Order: sequence, then structure tokens, then C-alpha cells
Amino acid sequence: MEAHGKTGRIEKLGAMELQDQVVFITGGAGGLGQAMCRKFAAEGARLVIGYRTSADAAERLAYELPGSGHSAKEAVVEDSTGLAALSVEIEAEYGRLDILINNAGITRFVPHGDLDSLDDDLIDDIFRTNWRGAFACVRACRSLLDAGDGGLIINISSIAGVTAMGSNIAYCASKAAMNSMTMSLARALAPRIRVVSLSPGLAETDFVSGLDQAWWDEQSERTPLQRLARPEDVAGAALAIATNLKFSNGCIIPLDGGRPLT
Ligand SMILES: NC(=O)c1ccc[n+]([C@@H]2O[C@H](COP(=O)([O-])OP(=O)(O)OC[C@H]3O[C@@H](n4cnc5c(N)ncnc54)[C@H](OP(=O)(O)O)[C@@H]3O)[C@@H](O)[C@H]2O)c1
Repeated sequence: MEAHGKTGRIEKLGAMELQDQVVFITGGAGGLGQAMCRKFAAEGARLVIGYRTSADAAERLAYELPGSGHSAKEAVVEDSTGLAALSVEIEAEYGRLDILINNAGITRFVPHGDLDSLDDDLIDDIFRTNWRGAFACVRACRSLLDAGDGGLIINISSIAGVTAMGSNIAYCASKAAMNSMTMSLARALAPRIRVVSLSPGLAETDFVSGLDQAWWDEQSERTPLQRLARPEDVAGAALAIATNLKFSNGCIIPLDGGRPLT
């Protein structure tokens, strides 16, 4: 069956895996965030698209997504008070929260041998956003996730958290710490809430800037599958965690084309 959605597009009707479920994603208007929003919305979920600076892009995305009930919300992950208020807002507006995707993250390229350029401010910024911010979102959303039929937290980590190869040493450490948090929370929040790290390799987004094309090409060639991750790869894997991998908990799922093998 088909029907016209609010965008005028023809949308498929029928049993969708995540019909009416509510998914809150931080950094939802970013490169990987947008792809995940599209993938989950296509399965019937209602997306709460968290943004920090990309309000316009988040609003636009909320309008464009298939289905209905999507919204763009300010969600600055270092603002724990704001996150607590947002959780109350989600409960009032939607009455439920099924999935939290901790996707917001920052980095900057600093060669690992250049210790002086990895200054204290950058280290603090990275940990405040990538680790503390993700934890703060869990803390704010825990009771809502706990109240449903089985909550899920997907932490968007990185293979850098396991290989210690990545944009800078602090970034790698922040993702290793996120993986540790995944395991701690999976134990602490079970059996009502599952927690899984999804760890992409280098992906085709604007996340890491300032590197020339030759560097990107080399990374692609060094990957056994001869390409970098696409946002759709990450979105498909996140959806699989929500729908097919229902007995996976506290684990770190790599999505890297085999890059650590070379
Ligand atoms: N791209 C890669 O190669 C790669 C590989 C492995 C893992 N990852 C991880 O994937 C995630 C998404 O990255 P991406 O590639 O999609 O990069 P991106 O396009 O730069 O998106 C990053 C998002 O994080 C949000 N953000 C940053 N600081 C925030 C804060 N303090 N509060 C709330 N939101 C904040 C940004 O929101 P605004 O735009 O609203 O400011 C942006 O939407 C990150 O956690 C990253 O570590 C990326």
C-alpha cells in the first residue's frame, strides 16, 4: 500500500520495524546523524533531532523525513540542565522514548607525536563532548528509556577507541572511554535497557577537516574493502542493532571495512 506523506512523496505503508517508536539522536543534523534519522524514520520511528549549532538543518530535516511526528530540539550535550529539561519535554510531547543515539562528537586533527598542539583546552573540549556529554544524555533519558518495552542506547564510538589510531590521542581515548561506559551501563541498566557501541572507521563526512585528498585516498586504499564508510553504512548498522541484534548488549560493534587488519 502507498500513501502521500506531508512532503508530497509517496510513502510505503505496512508493518514497519520501528512504528511509532521515539528515537532521540544527538548531533542529528550532522553527516552520520542525518543518515541515521532517514533510516530510522523510514522504519516508522519518530525522530527527536538534537542540534547544537545546526538549528536550520535540523528543522529542515524534521520536515523532510518520511512519516510524521519528527521534531528538532536544541540538545547541547555539555548542558546537563538543558538535557534534563529536554527529557521532560520529550515525555510531555511524545509520552515515551525508545532509543537514544549518542552521536554528537568533536575532534581536530593533531599528529600523535605533536604533544604540544594537543593542549589542555582541546583535551577538555573533546572529553566534555564525547564522553561526559554522552553520559549526561543517558542520565537525563534513563527513566524514560526504562519505562518502555525495552530501551536501547547506541553510542556512536569509533574504531579509534580500539586501535588508538585516529585524529588525535585525546579523541582515541574519548572513544575508548565511551566503549568502557557502554560496558558499565550495559551491566548497570540491564535488563530494561540495552547499551551498544557502534564503532565506524573513517567515514565520508565533514567530521575531520584540514586533510588533503591524497590522505583520504590513502586511507581508502589501506582499507581491505577499498573504500571508507558511507553514512548509509553507519545508519544501516545502527538500525540493525535496533531491529535484528536484539540479544547484543554491552558490546562494541566495528564497522570499518577491515581497516585495522592492514
Ligand atoms: N566521520 C567519521 O570519520 C567518524 C568515524 C568514526 C566515528 N565518528 C563519530 O560519529 C559521530 C558523528 O560524526 P559525523 O561524522 O557525523 O560528524 P559531523 O557531521 O561533524 O557531526 C557531528 C555532530 O555533533 C554535533 N555536536 C558537536 N558538539 C556538540 C555538542 N557539544 N552538543 C551537541 N551536539 C554537538 C554537531 O551538532 P551541530 O552541527 O548542531 O553543532 C554535529 O551535528 C561523532 O561522534 C564521531 O566521533 C565519525
